[in-house]
Amino acid sequence: MAGFAEDLRRDLSLVPKQIQSKYLYDALGSCLFEAISRLPWYRITRAEGRLLSRWAGQAVAPLADPLTLVELGCGNGEKIAMLAEALRSRRRTVSVHLIDISQTALDQSERQLNRFEHVSIIGHRTTYEDGLRDAASARGRGPMLVLFLGSNIGNFDPPASHEFLSEIRRALRPGDALLLGADLVKPERDLLLAYDDPLGVTAAFNKNLLARANVELHADFDLSAFRHRAVWNPAESRVEMHLVSLRAQEVSIARADLVVRFERGEPIWTESSYKYTPERVHAMGAAAGFRAVEQWVDPSAKFALTLFLVEDSR
Ligand code: TRP
Repeated sequence: MAGFAEDLRRDLSLVPKQIQSKYLYDALGSCLFEAISRLPWYRITRAEGRLLSRWAGQAVAPLADPLTLVELGCGNGEKIAMLAEALRSRRRTVSVHLIDISQTALDQSERQLNRFEHVSIIGHRTTYEDGLRDAASARGRGPMLVLFLGSNIGNFDPPASHEFLSEIRRALRPGDALLLGADLVKPERDLLLAYDDPLGVTAAFNKNLLARANVELHADFDLSAFRHRAVWNPAESRVEMHLVSLRAQEVSIARADLVVRFERGEPIWTESSYKYTPERVHAMGAAAGFRAVEQWVDPSAKFALTLFLVEDSR
């Protein structure tokens, strides 16, 4: 896997060291994330599911037929299945483009959707950017609804999220829409439990990055010499995930032709998860050229689902 090796060569020589979070989702990582989504302390997935099962019908109502759905990062497909369900009860057919970096995720999603006769499925095993481009160039004549759920937007820093929302906007036309899931600011205690759970599943998920480098790139990371750490950074409004080296050590990554030195206590930064206010979500969409038409908030988990439309630019 040339991409992983090259990215590690670059990102482990940055200060602070980094590993890109897209590498979390190999087959094991996808299963671990699915386990996270069932933890009592990680409420995003269930909150979003509640909002979708309640409001999916309203979300697709402003969009004409034939409708195309595009999900960026479809995960296990449970969410897109809720939209498919809403469309079936309205006797509407739909084409669905599933975009995910993980083959496991695509397979699971296709299985979820296969039970719907009114759905045709196209899978794209690739990055958000390339998948979006492929889906847009294969679109039918009706409107397109892009789904960017799970607060995956929060894994981009503000300049990158602006750039990415603008890229989605450029791939769309007047009459198209974006449904964006975004996690909201909440008490620090809740945030830390969500990203450093008492069962250690999130720690395993994060450390799987190192396990994966050991398998795929013949690295020799000692998994017991790193620990998972989540910290809330209120100034940046984000939870930061790190893998902290517990001692001074040297790790060799054979297939990346790389030896990396770690100080004791030195972190590898693996992910940030930004948390928003409802107004901030509106503002991000507006800055990228969308108009917010609906926002549904789960008050207990503090999570927002926002529907944006692309307006006629005349
Ligand atoms: N998009 C998810 C989130 O930010 C991904 C996630 C959940 C995650 N737990 C994690 C990523 C732990 C890295 C480490 O909520």
